[in-house]
Amino acid sequence: MSKPSIFVTRALPGDPTPRLREVADVEIWPGDEPPPHGELVRRAADADALLTMLTDPIDDAVLDAGKRLRIVAQMAVGYDNVDVAAATERGILVTNTPGVLTETTADLAFALLLAAARRIVEGDRLTRTGGWKSWHPSFLLGQDVHGATLGIVGLGQIGLAVARRARGFDMRILYHDRTRHPQAEAELGAEYVSLDRLLGESDFVSLHVPLASQTRHLIGQRELSLMKPSAVLVNAARGAVVDQQALCAALKERRIAAAGLDVAEIEPIPVDDPLLTLDNVVVTPHIGSASVATRARMAEMAVESVLQALRGELPSNCVNAEAFSRRKQA
Ligand code: DGY
Repeated sequence: MSKPSIFVTRALPGDPTPRLREVADVEIWPGDEPPPHGELVRRAADADALLTMLTDPIDDAVLDAGKRLRIVAQMAVGYDNVDVAAATERGILVTNTPGVLTETTADLAFALLLAAARRIVEGDRLTRTGGWKSWHPSFLLGQDVHGATLGIVGLGQIGLAVARRARGFDMRILYHDRTRHPQAEAELGAEYVSLDRLLGESDFVSLHVPLASQTRHLIGQRELSLMKPSAVLVNAARGAVVDQQALCAALKERRIAAAGLDVAEIEPIPVDDPLLTLDNVVVTPHIGSASVATRARMAEMAVESVLQALRGELPSNCVNAEAFSRRKQA
């Protein structure tokens, strides 16, 4: 019997692929750019497993081509690039990499919060370009983080990890989510409030919801207008959770003080995007989980999911267990 085939859409940190090569033929897309969509479709046609990144659109065309496809193992916690319903219909398992990137992503969200609040990047830019003329009592004044109110939208694992960091800064924590989290309320003193109240009362608003139809443009013009003029918005989730045009206008007109963004509606954000002309925004290139150790753990986890699927097991991080039952019945 011939070995199964696995297509990996980018070289993996820590290279865990030898484990895959023991049981399968493995092809890895070379270079740093994602494979073009047509190439992905072609590779899917010969693959039993795809190990994908958040930049790979796994749509009908890919799934239709993947007649032998058993699993799409996504190396990310978010999987909005994968049409999960379409995969489920075809009995194709979809997995993600939750948990292992929680603390690293929370570190980055908090770094953005601090950087935007205290104008770190702007200060660095000014220093390098001769803008530091002398110490001045009104030079580069920002917002205090300690003792301020933090509003967390989406109190999942990453939201909780951000809340724990906020405790160290004596922050008051508000949260909004689809469900209440009594344990977090008890342990972190987090208070459950409506989204509107959270936006109105928070000095910092940090977004930690997945991208789905209900969360697309969750923060738009109306929501931004509820925020304090001194408030800072942090988004280390997905770009499209925020209406970027509305955000740009709010920042430009100083209707909110600043933003720290690790994600954008279009990634990479075009260099001529008006957002990038503003001093009161800090933008990083989707590096929330980008630490050496965490990316190696994510890769390892995705590899493990592929191996489980190829052994006929239900992978531990399957997001569509229904596909497994469908496959068994088929
Ligand atoms: C994720 O995992 O969804 C992050 O956005 C990238 O690590």
